[in-house]
Amino acid sequence: MPATVIVGGFWGDEGKGKIVAHIANSDKPRIIARGGVGPNAGHTVEIEGQKFGVRMIPSGFVYKKAKLLIGAGVLVNPEIFLKEVELLKVADRARVDYRCAIIEQKHCEIDRTQDNLRKIGTTGTGCGPANVDRVCRIAKQAKEVPELKDYLTDVSLEINEALYSGDFVLIEGSQGFALSLYYGTYPYVTSKDTTASAIASDVGVGPTRIDDVIVVFKCFPTRVGSGPFPTEMPVEEAEKLGIVEYGTVTGRRRRVGYWDGKLAKYSAMVNGATQVAITGIDKFDRECYGIKEWEKLTIKAKEFIEQVENEVGVPVTLISTGPEIKQIIDLRREKL
Ligand code: GTP
Ligand code: IMP
Ligand code: MG
Repeated sequence: MPATVIVGGFWGDEGKGKIVAHIANSDKPRIIARGGVGPNAGHTVEIEGQKFGVRMIPSGFVYKKAKLLIGAGVLVNPEIFLKEVELLKVADRARVDYRCAIIEQKHCEIDRTQDNLRKIGTTGTGCGPANVDRVCRIAKQAKEVPELKDYLTDVSLEINEALYSGDFVLIEGSQGFALSLYYGTYPYVTSKDTTASAIASDVGVGPTRIDDVIVVFKCFPTRVGSGPFPTEMPVEEAEKLGIVEYGTVTGRRRRVGYWDGKLAKYSAMVNGATQVAITGIDKFDRECYGIKEWEKLTIKAKEFIEQVENEVGVPVTLISTGPEIKQIIDLRREKL
């Protein structure tokens, strides 16, 4: 059975949380593992009128039989992790790799006060400074934190054993391609690579074990914090289109832009995309809100999806038509 990696194709907040939650419910993975930077991410999952903004626990928590693992590459803030474990009632199935590096209060303070980090407009969640300590090999690891002792595991071993026994594993990235430390709009980027290869490495899975890479793009890309945004539109234009979004973690208003086919193509290339998921088609055409079948999409929406496929050169297999988990068109069986 396959291992699938899901990553963001633009500047984060593409709706990975929603896509992961949908796939978790429909494909029933044995394990859902989280890669990426750390609690700077905020994945939104809306289900049956309830809205969750998860920062450490994988967004696939909605599928109750999956183990929820946080890979060694991810930075852990124990306070946030433990709060989410309690809120989501997942103590029996949430685990942290014992090698994860730990975010401490001092890291958050540096993140909020250091001049260059303020200029970049970081999330202030301590991720960059904690990764600095990790690189200097002075960061604490999860195995040294007594509050985490009941949650420790070897994530890499668990995933690889599951794959050997034929189970499906879903691997969830965070942030997005253009925030990658290597490939993004440096220096206005996050503190790590965010592409699919990095996410696989974060959870300890080799490239030959990955069968599918789903890159998530939103119809109208957004960006929080400073930095270049080639297709950015004026605030008034975004308001006219009814696109007003706020960051899940920081509450900052997201900058909004037009579809960027050139960036999407490059992002899909570096990520090795095998499938593309498009979110917010309801923002592109209001009439598409909540639709669950391809045939019912408007001609305008269908033409846009076809344009995306032509530009990116990868099949669009998932089309999200609203924030709720069930508002989605899933074409994977037809197209693959
Ligand atoms: P990061 O890991 O922080 O990059 O986040 P993310 O990719 O999980 O996205 P996030 O949840 O931060 O932002 C996406 C927002 O769009 C959330 O508020 C979602 O509820 C919402 N959303 C997701 N899909 C759709 C969609 O198809 N239509 C609409 N209208 N909203 C959507
Ligand atoms: P940091 O990751 O907190 O260091 O922030 C660096 C840059 O990445 C800033 O522009 C942040 O706004 C952005 N960023 C980090 N995580 C996310 C995310 O999950 N969604 C959107 N932007 C993010
Ligand atoms: Mg987010």
